[in-house]
Amino acid sequence: MSFLELVTNRYSVRKYDARPVPDEALARILEAARLAPSACNNQPWRFFVVTNAETRAALFPHERQAWISAAPVVLVACSYPEKAWTRAYDGKMHADVDLAIAMEHIVLAATEEGLGTCWICAFDPTVFRQVLNLPPDMEPVAATPIGFSLDPPRPKNRKSLEEIVTYLP
Ligand SMILES: Cc1cc2nc3c(=O)[nH]c(=O)nc-3n(C[C@H](O)[C@H](O)[C@H](O)COP(=O)(O)O)c2cc1C
Repeated sequence: MSFLELVTNRYSVRKYDARPVPDEALARILEAARLAPSACNNQPWRFFVVTNAETRAALFPHERQAWISAAPVVLVACSYPEKAWTRAYDGKMHADVDLAIAMEHIVLAATEEGLGTCWICAFDPTVFRQVLNLPPDMEPVAATPIGFSLDPPRPKNRKSLEEIVTYLP
């Protein structure tokens, strides 16, 4: 699969089979996260792999998000904001940028393994902190279910290149 095919094949999966994620596939997905670039190579992250069904459900207590905890794995990507690079010019801290790159590595690696994912930021950080027993210096940034898809792919709805690209002379 070419990179462009991989990117085209990825879509948000919102219905999962209970079939477990093979350990080797999960290991390759986590390796893809480990290899992600980060500002100043600070790697200000920790990834939680949640397979226990009760813990998955506790992360997403609302019925409307039960489809997330139905996946056999929920991965939660957390940052250490104080360990992330901060730009001197304006003080912008880059933990979210670093985490987004690592998370997309995870999502694309899972796609290559034939597994579905869905970026999730609509979670209650207080609940995540409590369920995962996060230390105060750690911030949950994003989560994704990982599992075999029962959700058929759909056409992508995206802006055209003309709408999003500016070529400067
Ligand atoms: C930062 C971010 C946060 C997102 N949070 C959620 C979420 O909480 N729940 C959800 O169902 N989808 C979430 N999504 C998925 C987007 O809705 C989805 O990527 C977008 O509609 C494009 O569809 P596609 O992923 O199928 O190409 C999120 C995506 C991103 C990049």
